[in-house]
Amino acid sequence: MTDRDADKRLAAATAVDEVCDNMLVGLGTGSTAAHAIAALAARKLRIDAVATSEASAALATSLGIRVRDFATVSRVDLAIDGADAIDARLRAVKGAGGAMLREKVVAASAGRMIVIADGSKRVARLGGAPLPVEILPFAAAFATSRLAQLFVRCVERQDYRTDNGNIVIDGHGWDDAAPHALADALMAIPGVVGHGLFLSEIDAAYIADDGIVTRLERGRNPR
Ligand code: A5P
Repeated sequence: MTDRDADKRLAAATAVDEVCDNMLVGLGTGSTAAHAIAALAARKLRIDAVATSEASAALATSLGIRVRDFATVSRVDLAIDGADAIDARLRAVKGAGGAMLREKVVAASAGRMIVIADGSKRVARLGGAPLPVEILPFAAAFATSRLAQLFVRCVERQDYRTDNGNIVIDGHGWDDAAPHALADALMAIPGVVGHGLFLSEIDAAYIADDGIVTRLERGRNPR
């Protein structure tokens, strides 16, 4: 039987080989990113990091990685993060852990952005994954009514706030034929502050399936 956690650990360990001394590294969020943080700490490199969540910052700090405040950083060398679904064109859905807004900011600042995942995350189409949307609490009812025009079903996470103090609506049932149009439509709703569609940020992916790692690079993979 496939050991998904072993595959996450393997993808993470393989990707972390790209990190060198003196890099500023963006640390992702989630179970796969946690494996990367542990693998990075074990290498004992001379690096600094920024984190995409309070949880990842705490984990990295506890393992001896120096974590800087991203508010003082405009560019990181390399970002390493998980995904909920990723296709052959390195477009992804992220945010099951609610960290998609900080993850996108750090990914956008990265010279190179790598996704790490087990094979269950690799999909032919992204539309099967719920798409998390982060919303200012003040705009909850208004933004949700607008989201209902873009998704078959919208489900608000109960008793949940992101690290930014916002709420998250998971949009189920969306048209993945034109994801850029959906991303634009989401960001055009006042009160929406972010979403989990990553369409252009990802440069490479390490995906482990039953102990075998495949590396995908943007622009070099079969569509
Ligand atoms: C966090 O908000 C997400 O974007 C994670 O990167 C994503 O959900 C992957 O999580 P796992 O590595 O735990 O599957």
